[in-house]
Amino acid sequence: MRQPLVAGNWKMNGSRESIRELLDGIKAGMGDVNVAEVAVCAPAVYIADVEAQLSGSGVAWGGQDLSSEASGAYTGEIAASMWLDFGCRYVIVGHSERRTYHGETDEMVARKYAAARAAGLVPILCIGETLEEREQGITEEVVARQLDAVIALEGVAALNDGVIAYEPVWAIGTGKTASPEQAQEVHAFIRGRVAASDAGVAAGVRILYGGSMKPDNAEELIAKADIDGGLIGGASLNAGDFLGICKAAG
Ligand code: 13P
Repeated sequence: MRQPLVAGNWKMNGSRESIRELLDGIKAGMGDVNVAEVAVCAPAVYIADVEAQLSGSGVAWGGQDLSSEASGAYTGEIAASMWLDFGCRYVIVGHSERRTYHGETDEMVARKYAAARAAGLVPILCIGETLEEREQGITEEVVARQLDAVIALEGVAALNDGVIAYEPVWAIGTGKTASPEQAQEVHAFIRGRVAASDAGVAAGVRILYGGSMKPDNAEELIAKADIDGGLIGGASLNAGDFLGICKAAG
């Protein structure tokens, strides 16, 4: 019932030229991919190029962050309506790099989720614990708190309009993937947390795994009952690796 999604998060990488080559490579290989949905989340300045290249391709695109405000005097910020203006379907909210380097709190992330949703974008809500938090045994407490901020602001039904990405911070860009069992345990907890408010929403919401996902570990992760796809950083910058993950998910 849940349609798998594989989304790339390019982070602050690429150039006009490298992105053109990357998307040419992805488009050329999409014929062999049968995962339900594929998307890439690009740096804002390249979004017009991405739109031009991906329109009609079957690959969706999106942003990596947005403002919680609709418009106005917010220098440097990007509104949900602007992403939509360039054909975006998705926007990442609350990535751990935003939480860590830009001081985004659970409440700020919840407001961004709300802004995306109000505009008709699909927010990809990132949650996950640091290594220190895992070692302290508070993983569930941390992801529950991050999730509950959105439920408190928008109501549990708001999760019908978004996607959750569980990204253990210690697995991001480190080459240390959570084992399929470790990941499944947290995914099941997240789904259970949603189910405590609404079983129907819990059954439908997609929960992606992110953190050093590669072609050779994707299949085992995505085979788990509560893992509905991936949010891919480093491996999404290489067409062959990204397609490999898409194939594994399909
Ligand atoms: P890596 O795949 O590079 O570990 O990054 C994961 C991530 O942060 C995706 O948002």
